[in-house]
Amino acid sequence: MKNIVLIGFMGVGKGSVAREIVKHSDYMAVDTDDLIESMENRKIKKIFEEEGEKYFRKLEKRVAKWLEKSVSDTLISTGGGFYKVDNLKKIGTIVLLDAPFEKILQRLQEHPNAKRKLAKRPLLQDLQKAKALYEVRRPEYLAVADIVIDVTDKSLAKIAKEILKKVKK
Ligand code: S3P
Repeated sequence: MKNIVLIGFMGVGKGSVAREIVKHSDYMAVDTDDLIESMENRKIKKIFEEEGEKYFRKLEKRVAKWLEKSVSDTLISTGGGFYKVDNLKKIGTIVLLDAPFEKILQRLQEHPNAKRKLAKRPLLQDLQKAKALYEVRRPEYLAVADIVIDVTDKSLAKIAKEILKKVKK
């Protein structure tokens, strides 16, 4: 099995979709933010505060190299900016979870842990800036994706099913 790489904007549900796919398949799963946090033994928020974004992006590149070289049969969920690593396409099939900015925001705000979900994401602190970032990134996400899944108002089960069907083709 080729790796599946889930990309998409912060809060679109990459982690939740990854966990759902794991339930319905033999894929192992890893998350690039989790890998970075364990490498550094500190949270993403702390890494941004203490070292800055540039340092974090370097760690993403390191993770990307390792994934390409050492990981197979795995569902890889990624941070919203991970799609920019040079070797992205060599890691696996790129699946974009796509939704309008307003829907993503709504999903985050309606979550039982909304406060924590927003607080842990340094680039979501200013919603106007986050929206501008979304506008810049969306065409770039579309350009690198092998498969685009519109996740708007769909259940996790339906999204997972769609992805598994499309990657098998
Ligand atoms: C980022 C998204 C975050 C995390 C970091 C930067 C981004 O991951 O990697 O805060 O640049 O969009 P999520 O997409 O899981 O929120």
